[in-house]
Amino acid sequence: MIATTKGLEHIVMGDSTISLVAGETGGLVLRGFDIKEVARRASYEDIVHLLLYGEPPTAAQSADLRQRLLARRAIPGPAAAVLDALPPGLPPLDALRTLLSALGDGAYPYPPTVEQGLDLIARTPTLLARYVRRSRGLPPVAPRPDLSHVANYAWMLSGSVPTSAQSDALETYFVLLADHGMNASTLALRVVISTESDLFSAATAALGALKGPAHGGAPSRVSDMLDAVGSSERAEEYIRRELDARRRLYGFGHRAYKTDDPRALILRDLAPEVAEPARLKLAGSVERVALDELHRRRPQQRLYTNVEYWSAVVLEGVGLSRDMFTPTFAAARTAGWTAHALEQAADNRLIRPDVRYVGPPAGRRWPEELARRGPA
Ligand code: ACO
Repeated sequence: MIATTKGLEHIVMGDSTISLVAGETGGLVLRGFDIKEVARRASYEDIVHLLLYGEPPTAAQSADLRQRLLARRAIPGPAAAVLDALPPGLPPLDALRTLLSALGDGAYPYPPTVEQGLDLIARTPTLLARYVRRSRGLPPVAPRPDLSHVANYAWMLSGSVPTSAQSDALETYFVLLADHGMNASTLALRVVISTESDLFSAATAALGALKGPAHGGAPSRVSDMLDAVGSSERAEEYIRRELDARRRLYGFGHRAYKTDDPRALILRDLAPEVAEPARLKLAGSVERVALDELHRRRPQQRLYTNVEYWSAVVLEGVGLSRDMFTPTFAAARTAGWTAHALEQAADNRLIRPDVRYVGPPAGRRWPEELARRGPA
């Protein structure tokens, strides 16, 4: 009898030096650096260096990488033409899927390189900002070379420079979301790279996986849930009704973490710096009630708050519309995707698992009336 594991849970598909997700203890480590150490201290650009090269940059390398990212912010002509041809009502996440594909214009052969990855990382925010503004009937905002990668993203989206609190919160969000072990989108990316396909095809596949509400599609649903609850007094009634109806609560539960998701704790701590006090109070009440109910009803499942819950509150606080939550997650994750693409290609073997066949036994005869020829 072949052993199978639904959802590949606990299957270890290889070695990686990029990030450690310690699900039992609630730890996340990027190339040896505890997420708590870097979340509020490192810039996103330096985390890109850490993930792509394996080490934090020296001061000179840091300046150099900033420059290389900055030089790539503009969108190439063919991708801009695709962007301008998109129907304006498309959700930004669907637009981004097409735009990542459009970036892969034949100039990015396998194997992936750091330079290709920097194109992906630098251009994703510009594509997103330009598409979103266009779909709202607004003119594009040109990148500003004096702003960091993350502050420039906020600038290109809104046309105003973010406050230092907003910029710092968004930067922390980008660092926290930069990489996270063998999650579903990273696996999708590595499967594509393992076939010796190109980085942009792999990133397009990864984005498709990220979109789903079981993965990166959850935070806008968290905002919807907070709206539906409306006030702290109604939290208990709402949560009970959802769980009685056997619906999942977005922003809770995680395949890896059986305790607090460390990213959620960091975002919860910084949320007061950007969130509206009333929203913060509501989010806190809903979280408390949800955890109480989940622990009471399903103690053995060990369900805790995941990163998406407080992401929603923080991203609302920095002024992002909810249709931009998952695209912004993708923009942050381009760093991790690139690191995994490089790691996969450096020691590649086709990723091709098996499946246990449990269909009808062999030996069935094809119906005569459907046969193209007589019996074999
Ligand atoms: N609310 C209510 N019940 C839940 C939740 C939840 N958020 N999460 C899990 N459960 C229940 C499941 O219904 C299941 O019960 P069952 O055995 O009676 O069917 C049990 O707990 C175990 O859940 P699994 O499905 O085995 O958990 P899995 O590891 O497959 O899924 C997942 C993890 C997808 C994140 C799940 O917890 C979930 O759907 N959460 C809500 C969506 C969400 O917040 N996604 C973002 C994840 S973070 C990220 O990807 C960046």
